[in-house]
Amino acid sequence: MKKVAILTSGGDAPGMNAAIRAAVRVALWSDIGVMGVKWGFTGLIKNDLIPLDARSVGGIIQRGGTILGTARSEDFRTEAGKQQALENLRLHDVEGLIAIGGDGTMHGALALHALGLPTIGVPATIDNDLSGTEMAIGVDTALNTAIEAIDRIKDTASSHQRAFVIEVMGRDCGYLALTAGMAAGAEVVLIPEMKVELKTILYEMKKAYARGKPHFIVVVAEGAEFNATDVADYLSAERTEVGFELRPTILGHVQRGGSPTAFDRILATRLGAGAVTALAEGKSGKMVCLVNGNIETKPLGPILASPRKMDEGVMKLAKILAT
Ligand code: F6P
Repeated sequence: MKKVAILTSGGDAPGMNAAIRAAVRVALWSDIGVMGVKWGFTGLIKNDLIPLDARSVGGIIQRGGTILGTARSEDFRTEAGKQQALENLRLHDVEGLIAIGGDGTMHGALALHALGLPTIGVPATIDNDLSGTEMAIGVDTALNTAIEAIDRIKDTASSHQRAFVIEVMGRDCGYLALTAGMAAGAEVVLIPEMKVELKTILYEMKKAYARGKPHFIVVVAEGAEFNATDVADYLSAERTEVGFELRPTILGHVQRGGSPTAFDRILATRLGAGAVTALAEGKSGKMVCLVNGNIETKPLGPILASPRKMDEGVMKLAKILAT
């Protein structure tokens, strides 16, 4: 393989830059040229490609976001869009593609593989909703950001004896909320994978108030059956029973930004390097994955056919610890 292209697509994730850096430097070390695609699949269709050298990825390992830019491309879903993307890659003599992103990006990577372009996916999404890999790039940083925010909220909650309902990102996956709730010592965690009745929260809250707890923290995944406002409205209506005064907080995009943790920098570096190695070995239609501490490749088809399942043991533990 003489030349590869790299793109980042979908929601950005801290550590994407570390993956780009590693992929570029490992490719160049292997005598493989590298093009960077700006703005994900949208830029691929618009022929927005730039050559990357070792220097163009200098000083980025610690930066959040993605130096290549990202987008959620509707055009790429069409047949014409995919053909245009392939045509533009041919124009630049690109023989393989590294696609860094989440679920949508992996679908795009699989589609290009099916059309004959050697393609390797690199999992990078704060949602951690891709199966196959133990962790995606960006999850650890987002988790630490969420925990820091919840810790801060807890300080003010305890000072006022208030309850907070805190909404955490994750799309349809409860991983970020479950782990953030567990690590921040939340009293209740609501995730799409685990049903909790609103009246159960009310009951737990009343008990906590009666026991003299200074705060009560509910962490809600954005994909859960009830969002933070629903929960806060329901509990506020029962204010006299609840005891605690109530406030909702939506953490939002603050969870997606910021400098990647050491874990994310190292994971991204290993996965970015692994993607180049996989392409050089003639692999395609696969995702580089973290499995038992090692970097492996797994076929994209089965990964996309079965979204991540939440660990039953961890869910049970979260419930036990919350009491
Ligand atoms: O997939 C990452 C993510 O941050 C999800 O957690 C969230 O649902 C979504 O992206 C938000 O997307 P956007 O930035 O396009 O609003």
